[in-house]
Parts: sequence; C-alpha cells; structure tokens
Amino acid sequence: MKSVRWGIVGLGNIANKFAGDLALIPNCSLQAVASSDSARANEFARKYKAKNSYSNYTDLFRDPEVDLVYIASLHPSHAALSIEAIKYGKGVLCEKPMGMNAKQVKQIIQAATEANVFLMEALWTRFNPAFEQTHQWILENKIGNLRYINATFSFNGLNRGVDSRLFNPEKGGGSLLDIGIYPLFLGYHFLGIPETIKASAVLTKEGVDEQLGFIFSYPKAQAIMYSSFAHDEDMQARICGELGEIYMNSRWHETGEIKLVLNGKEYSKSLPINGKGYTYEIIEANSCFLNGKTQSSKWKWQQSLDIAILMDAIRKQTNIVYPADN
Ligand SMILES: NC(=O)c1ccc[n+]([C@@H]2O[C@H](COP(=O)([O-])OP(=O)(O)OC[C@H]3O[C@@H](n4cnc5c(N)ncnc54)[C@H](OP(=O)(O)O)[C@@H]3O)[C@@H](O)[C@H]2O)c1
Repeated sequence: MKSVRWGIVGLGNIANKFAGDLALIPNCSLQAVASSDSARANEFARKYKAKNSYSNYTDLFRDPEVDLVYIASLHPSHAALSIEAIKYGKGVLCEKPMGMNAKQVKQIIQAATEANVFLMEALWTRFNPAFEQTHQWILENKIGNLRYINATFSFNGLNRGVDSRLFNPEKGGGSLLDIGIYPLFLGYHFLGIPETIKASAVLTKEGVDEQLGFIFSYPKAQAIMYSSFAHDEDMQARICGELGEIYMNSRWHETGEIKLVLNGKEYSKSLPINGKGYTYEIIEANSCFLNGKTQSSKWKWQQSLDIAILMDAIRKQTNIVYPADN
C-alpha cells in the first residue's frame, strides 16, 4: 500500500494531539516537523519519531520527501504558510480557521487551484463517526424538515491572560474564529447559508469577542449558536425536525454518543472514537491525496469559504476587526 509522508509546522498544543493520532493510522508516516524553536523541533521529532526536524518552516516545505503538510500554527499565519507550502508543491491540511477572513481563504484556494494540489481545512468534526451518523439520519429524513439547531462551544480560558492566543488580536484572539466556528459549522452544514444573521458580542477592551451569540434565520428554520472563553458549560448540540430530534452529547464536536428521538422514543448510539478523533480527518486527507483529489467531497473549498464569509458577516455586526482585515 502506498504511504503518505506528512510534515507538521508549528509544534504547539494541537500539533502534539495530531501527531499522536497520525501514529495510529497505517498508511502514513511523520516525515518531518518544523518549529521556530529548534529544541522544540528536535524534541517533537524524537517523541513522534519524525525522520527530519527543521528550525524553519521553509526547509520543511522544501523537503522532497514530504507529501502533505499540516499547518498547526496560530490563525494569522495559516494563509501565508498554506500558500507557501502549496507553492512548493505540497498538499495542505490547514487548521481551522483556514484564514482570518474570506479574502485570505480565497487566496489559499486560488493558490491550490493554480498548483493543482490537495487542500483541506482541518474541520475534524465533519469526519467524526457520530457526526457522520447524524448526517446519515438527516439524509434519510428520519427527523423530517429541520426547524431548529442549537449548538454552543465554551470554556473558561480567562486565566490564560490577554497576551494568549485566545485574547490577543494579533494572535487571532476571540471565540468565534477559534471555537464559535464549530457551532457555526453545524448550523451551516445542515441548513446552508442563512437568509439573515443576527449577532451580539461581549468584547474585551482589546476588541475581541470573549462571548458571542448569533442566530442564523432561514425561511422555515433557525440556528441559535454561541461561543465563549468566559465560562465552562455542558456542550450539547440539538438538531430538531418536524418528525424528531437528534442530540449530540457533550462535548458534541468530538462526541461518540448521539441520540435519535422519534415520537418520544429514544435510540442512543455509541460510536467509538479512535485516538483523540483527529484520525478521521487524517484518513480523509490520506485518501484524497492517494487518489489524486485536490479537495475532499465531505468538506470542500467552497464550504471553507462559505464559513469564512459567514464569520466575516458576524464580525462586521459585532465590530471585531483584525490586522489582516486592513
Ligand atoms: N482542531 C482542534 O481541535 C484544535 C484545537 C486547538 C487548536 N486548534 C487550532 O490550531 C492552531 C494552533 O493552536 P494551538 O492551541 O496548538 O496553539 P499554540 O500551542 O499556542 O501554538 C501553536 C504554535 O504556533 C506557533 N506560535 C505560537 N505563538 C506564536 C507567535 N506569537 N508568533 C508566531 N507563531 C507562534 C508556535 O509554533 P513553533 O513551534 O514554530 O514556535 C506554536 O508552537 C490554531 O489555529 C487553532 O485554531 C485546533
């Protein structure tokens, strides 16, 4: 079986989780890792058995033995790094959000189109088995016409401080781009582009959203979504139709536990999660790459662009502006 050789750039929190899951998947290997800090790169390479480690990202992009690059740095660098990797002919799996705004997402898509390489946003929930089962139930019209979606994502990150990536605007701080993107994804995925959006935010004095609510309205449905770094919360998602409901248990974006309710009868389904759950996006990226596909049919470029456009619209209503917008 042909194998996919991965490179990872930006060796922080998510890169560690991803590398752990990568090791669980048979037809791929960790070829190279790169960090701005050479000691971190060497240690990461040792821990996850990468063949090469680099102290700058461009050297990894130049490595002829890397097929796919996972961009795991902070949001403001996603676009420039994705475009640079693509220019070196690499396929790219870019952490969410793919860009700071729709303009950046368009630029990445343009680069991937011109280079004819694989590109996907690492919206891992899309590939989670419980999400796939939910999707299947909806395709089978089990719960009828969808009328209401409610999803939230919040945790208490207040103690991380104003210079952390959660709160510093220069680091892409704010709940929408980091975690609000998940509820937004759920509403958009099942109901599409809304007719109208209403958003309201609690902003920090640095101007990023530490708390945000938004409603997507459709002719005959509403999606009510929320994200916050200010408090903990039990994160369930609800998808309700005229014939029944689906509940995704806490924390819904990574859950293996879902429930279908029809006429008051509950059908619970438990789907085991392999590793931390990043395995499914890795399998999808490997499969696309090995089959010569430039995009996944499950999470297409246009879908990444649509959610970037929706996030821009929410930010416009709530006056959240990043340096990348200027
Ligand atoms: N899918 C998920 O479940 C999930 C979970 C968490 C985060 N994420 C996404 O992953 C990305 C990284 O998040 P994280 O929690 O892993 O972040 P992190 O641990 O704070 O940082 C990740 C890496 O970004 C680079 N970096 C950090 N601060 C920087 C700065 N001031 N300037 C330039 N580079 C800097 C560093 O790379 P070097 O090693 O090169 O120095 C760092 O190791 C974010 O875009 C986030 O949205 C996704």
